[in-house]
Amino acid sequence: MPLKEIESRADIQQLVDSFYSRVQADELLGHIFNDIAKVDWDLHLPKMYDFWDSLLLDGSFSGNVMQPHFRLNKLIPLEEQHFNRWLAIFEDTVHSLFTGEKAELAIYRARSIKEIMEFKINLVNHPPKDNSKIPLVNPGNESKG
Ligand code: HEM
Repeated sequence: MPLKEIESRADIQQLVDSFYSRVQADELLGHIFNDIAKVDWDLHLPKMYDFWDSLLLDGSFSGNVMQPHFRLNKLIPLEEQHFNRWLAIFEDTVHSLFTGEKAELAIYRARSIKEIMEFKINLVNHPPKDNSKIPLVNPGNESKG
């Protein structure tokens, strides 16, 4: 099938459905969604249609992106490998179905949110031990004004 542009709610649904069916089949992430988080897909998928619609088209999403991930992180620590796999599957899914500006925007947005999410979760899982050791000014190189 030729690649098409992301233009409609139906396209968003196709993207999201395809992404989460790959996630569920993935050996690293499938278990987390199905057995640990026990995701109710009938509720989760429509939420994710709204989320991606709001980022790419003109839909509206009212949810808290971080909260379910902090909760999940208490059940299973989310680490670099999980975030990288999530993003790799997302990018593969987009590129297998779509082309064009919105497709690239989807990947750009996913990367940005993934980076922020990973950073925040990482601070919880691996808190810095002693901030005072991080020099604010390069020693010996202070500006004299
Ligand atoms: C390690 C990677 C990730 C895992 C394992 C993960 C897993 C989950 C789980 C289990 C839920 C809750 C589903 C439920 O309500 O039952 C969820 C919700 C959600 N996730 Fe993720 N996620 C990951 C990364 C991301 C990223 C990178 C994004 C954004 C680009 C994202 C966006 C969302 C959104 C928007 C929700 C719904 C929030 C709400 O309920 O308001 N997730 N995720």
